[in-house]
Amino acid sequence: MTDPAFTILPETADDALAIERLNERTFGPGRYAKSAYRLRERMPHRPELSFTARIGTLLVGSVRLSPIRIGEAQALLLGPLTVEPPFRERGIGHALIGRAVSEAKAKGHRLVVLVGDEPYYGKSGFKRIPKGRARMPGPVDPARLLVCELVDGAFDGVSGPIRPDWSAP
Ligand SMILES: CC(C)(COP(=O)(O)OP(=O)(O)OC[C@H]1O[C@@H](n2cnc3c(N)ncnc32)[C@H](O)[C@@H]1OP(=O)(O)O)[C@@H](O)C(=O)NCCC(=O)NCCS
Repeated sequence: MTDPAFTILPETADDALAIERLNERTFGPGRYAKSAYRLRERMPHRPELSFTARIGTLLVGSVRLSPIRIGEAQALLLGPLTVEPPFRERGIGHALIGRAVSEAKAKGHRLVVLVGDEPYYGKSGFKRIPKGRARMPGPVDPARLLVCELVDGAFDGVSGPIRPDWSAP
């Protein structure tokens, strides 16, 4: 049997509950203690830079981007990224990352950061941030703090604390 095709669509207001449930099932209540979640709590994600994966009408995956700053530089925080377990290992995760990153680039953004596994996100162009150059507002394994430059050299000279971007339009 062949896999049913999936589609990647911009997130809409109607998706909020299904995404919340998907993230609850995937990460559990412990997610609120994570540094990335603490940032996202204070700075809502951007629906126009956030995407869902669907098979038919079923929501099977989600990725969100939120505006942050690293020092003075504007950037986006990617996450959470989640795919429903029965639908993993068929490219949905990478398709969600690819769509979010290309849409961010098309809208003029320069940097995307995240906390995650380098072997996975490296395939989508993310690289480890040199230790100490960017600081999350809580404990994070430095090997998991990654950045993707949407413009060549966009991370050159960027350093400092990672915090919500209150001035983002
Ligand atoms: C991580 C996740 C989003 C991947 O989604 P997916 O749709 O299965 O991913 P894809 O199909 O695009 O990619 C699968 C490939 O990535 C690999 N992969 C998956 N998770 C990985 C990880 N943590 N580290 C390294 N490689 C990983 C798979 O082995 C597979 O490799 P292959 O292409 O060589 O066969 C999904 O497993 C998930 O929701 N996990 C739980 C939540 C989570 O951990 N989110 C990320 C937070 S950092």
